[in-house]
Amino acid sequence: MADSLAAATLQLTTALGLEKREARLEARVLAAFAWTVSPAWLIAHDTDPLSDAQTTQFQALLNRRLAGEPVAYLTGTREFYGRPFRVSPDVLIPRPDTELLVERALACIPSDQVVDVLDLGTGSGCIAITLALERPLARITAVDRSAAALAIAQRNADGLNARVEFLTSDWFAAFMPPRVLAGRRFDLIVSNPPYIAAADPHLARGDVRFEPLTALAASHDGLADLRRLTTAASAHLKPGGTLLLEHGYDQADAVVELLRQHGFEQICTLRDLAGLNRVSGGRWAGGVG
Ligand SMILES: C[S@@+](CC[C@H](N)C(=O)[O-])C[C@H]1O[C@@H](n2cnc3c(N)ncnc32)[C@H](O)[C@@H]1O
Repeated sequence: MADSLAAATLQLTTALGLEKREARLEARVLAAFAWTVSPAWLIAHDTDPLSDAQTTQFQALLNRRLAGEPVAYLTGTREFYGRPFRVSPDVLIPRPDTELLVERALACIPSDQVVDVLDLGTGSGCIAITLALERPLARITAVDRSAAALAIAQRNADGLNARVEFLTSDWFAAFMPPRVLAGRRFDLIVSNPPYIAAADPHLARGDVRFEPLTALAASHDGLADLRRLTTAASAHLKPGGTLLLEHGYDQADAVVELLRQHGFEQICTLRDLAGLNRVSGGRWAGGVG
């Protein structure tokens, strides 16, 4: 077994340009998934010979990874904020970067009060479900335009015992006349919208190639959806409510300007662990929204 894992590590390093440590980890994750065993089992059985069936199962999975498919789509799961989320090619694979948005959102949600929270573009549901589990008193609503994504999000909520109301909606459309929820307002609106420029060469590289383009790319240098959300948000916030948006590392100035133009106050931008500006938000004091 150790020989097969070492050979797979080398192949992953060469074919995908991974660091050796990352390649070794991926090889172990794929092997554990292929053989339905735990990582601890792999260590304990390091010197076992592989059966033909085990070799075939592992090789099939490895070949797909070598062709570029993300590990999370192969295993159907990715951890976010310490919990496992089901994923499929219908949803964006949750990123550690988005935990910054979650941390900031949690700081805005008191644990002893009932507040109304909206997650726009929920995908796998990772943001909405995490907020629901960390703040059980909060009433969490989450929307996505993709019915397939919402099916995954609902499955994640059921599996993790989270109470979230999921709705199909083109951004705020579900809360506009003539829909029955027209007029509903929120204390906090969060979103990790598509924000990569459609012409960005990164969209044609690595794992991203396998993710839904509708979850990643936006027109106008990636700002089209961020613009739509900042323009419309105040009409759906309660006075004193907060809007928090994840964005690209080079989009903070543009997002801050959009927030300012649309009447937000106490605007701030947060940096991730790498020191990059990745989340901006502001408070809407009230008035005509
Ligand atoms: C960057 S992904 C974020 C997914 C998830 N919230 C996360 O952080 O991993 C953006 C999500 O927005 C959804 N989306 C894109 N355009 C939308 C629209 N006009 N209305 C509602 N959702 C939209 C996509 O389907 C996708 O699930």
